[in-house]
Amino acid sequence: MKRILVTSALPYANGSIHLGQLAGCYLPADIYTRYQRLMGRDVLHICGTDEHGVPITLRAEEEKITPREIVDRFYTDIRRSLEAFGIHYDNFSRTSLPLHHKIAQDFFLKLYQKGYLVPKNQTQFYCTYDKRFLADRYIEGSCPYCKAEGARGDQCENCGKWLEPTKLIQPKCKICGRTPELRETRHWFFQLDKVQKELEEWMRRKTTWKENVLRFSEGWFREGLTERSITRDIDWGVPVPLPEAKEKVIYVWFEALIGYISATVEWAEKKGDPNAWRPYWFDPETQLVHFIGKDNIVFHAIVWPGMLLAHGDYILPSEIPANEFLTIKGEKFSTSRNLAVWLPDVLKTFEPDLFRYALTINSPEKRDADFSWEDFQKRNNTELADILGNFVNRTLSFTHQYLDGKVPEPSDFSEEDQKILKKLERLPKEVGGLLEKFEAKRALKAVMKITKEANRHFDSREPWRTRKGDPADCRTALFVSLQVIEVLSRVLDPFLPFTSKKIQQTFSNGKRVHQPLRWEGDSQLEHGRPLGKPEILFPKLEDEIIQIQVEKLYGRPQPAPKGEIMEEISIDEFKKLDLRVAEVLKAEQAEGTKNLIRLQIKVGEEERQIVAGIAQWYSPEEIIGKRIIVLANLKPAVIRGFESKGMLLAAQDDSELSIVVLDKPLKSGAKVS
Ligand code: 2FM
Ligand code: ZN
Repeated sequence: MKRILVTSALPYANGSIHLGQLAGCYLPADIYTRYQRLMGRDVLHICGTDEHGVPITLRAEEEKITPREIVDRFYTDIRRSLEAFGIHYDNFSRTSLPLHHKIAQDFFLKLYQKGYLVPKNQTQFYCTYDKRFLADRYIEGSCPYCKAEGARGDQCENCGKWLEPTKLIQPKCKICGRTPELRETRHWFFQLDKVQKELEEWMRRKTTWKENVLRFSEGWFREGLTERSITRDIDWGVPVPLPEAKEKVIYVWFEALIGYISATVEWAEKKGDPNAWRPYWFDPETQLVHFIGKDNIVFHAIVWPGMLLAHGDYILPSEIPANEFLTIKGEKFSTSRNLAVWLPDVLKTFEPDLFRYALTINSPEKRDADFSWEDFQKRNNTELADILGNFVNRTLSFTHQYLDGKVPEPSDFSEEDQKILKKLERLPKEVGGLLEKFEAKRALKAVMKITKEANRHFDSREPWRTRKGDPADCRTALFVSLQVIEVLSRVLDPFLPFTSKKIQQTFSNGKRVHQPLRWEGDSQLEHGRPLGKPEILFPKLEDEIIQIQVEKLYGRPQPAPKGEIMEEISIDEFKKLDLRVAEVLKAEQAEGTKNLIRLQIKVGEEERQIVAGIAQWYSPEEIIGKRIIVLANLKPAVIRGFESKGMLLAAQDDSELSIVVLDKPLKSGAKVS
């Protein structure tokens, strides 16, 4: 039997996970693993948090707490939200564990002993004010290639190039903003160029790999691999295991990759079988599959296999399914600008399966894909609710109403019945085949297609009509629909595990679900089986719920659709809006955002803060002193990290936005009606 080790990129423990990351690798990896497990294969899914390096220390410095506090907080946060989304791991580890330090140091020493790591003196930026070398993200400047501002010492976010910090234009210390000087320091370099030939030969055999990975790697080979410094002058990380480098740590990327091995070793130790990890890393029969987002391609397709080749004992990756980016209404998700939808946030309002669906049916598998709340709503209402939910619900309701709530006994299948049953028989193989090729989007589309057909089949068989005139025919039609649902409940498990479980529970009439569930094989529904009562699987999402999310993201309601006036409301409904005159005392750009202004306002005697998404149209100075109208009894909300107690009124057309101001200078607090 095949043995498969699946990994998902270890997220930095410096913030919560957002939808972009979920769509990039965590969800596709979970879908793949769930499928393999249902096929009865020996599959292990491991992950963990990446807890070292500058991303962590920078956040700790910003918050004036220790890196340890940061990683402890986000290890728990990340682990919990992935779990809540149904992303299942056999082990979710962390790179700050002593076990990982030891394994990473041993790996380092092996490469050192084999002559792949050599020390060299190098000039590096040093901040005389902060008295430290400025590694990686501690330095910022303009990118020498694309000229974008805000490029970091190791990578430019705009063009994606891996940078040499000394080439940055107008470099600045990220901590104090001063211009650093160049000083000499000693670092250890991994001679990646020594393995280029072997790497190229290995990659040449990967003809079925995704285009993005192959193209990207070819580019690197063409330019020629060069040695890379893999030690850093910071004090948070895995110490370099050489007496002459006691003050230095191993570069975070070099050791984080080794985290995949440590997480597997930890899994074996936890289950009390300390050698169980070995076949996963030593046996060439093992398929090693790394799920990542496209920004991590160079590290997984070049650096990591290069490290493994240099080491010599371990197997190499078999597959590196790298997804493209998920954008949000056309913009890149950005943690620093807080332009993102965070997992812990949405879990408060929505069922995880809704996102699992929306992010898979529109997955950035081959090209960037866009997420918007409007699309999310539409997919729930018109696909999940109208097609899948409706089909399951009407079939079960009919069975309860007219067929005693039991799987009916079929008689002769009509031609239509046979057609759909044939398709149903082929479905698990078709979906499985696509999942093996990492095409989850097409796989889910195939499931939805048959659901649509089954809905039409239900309509055309008209059981509500045959119920009286031809009960045998009615029973047969319903039997077919129930078979479809039974197969759906199996093939939906990788995509929508919570929904799949609900359906299975209905089919087992509330009793424990028949285990183990099998992917393929004949229907497991025998006639006469009593069925549980149907429940609404996907309630429709109302505009108001979606609007709240949109406002959280952008700080103000998005313009209402043009044209028709909205539906009527009563005067009593209008009276619920407590509109007041307010005076703007202070206004400033909300830190880390492009479109938000933070206003300090006075409503009567009360001072409060509101946040408004108007920076595109107003500078903060223009608003100070204005008397505006606010909706004073709007439920307080946290918008991109800022508390907002109320909302200002503004009017907007195709090209302009205007704050609503008063004609005469009334007192603040005056009621508007
Ligand atoms: O991009 C990231 O979030 C990195 N922490 C991914 C690391 S993957 C591997 F090295 F562990
Ligand atoms: Zn400085």
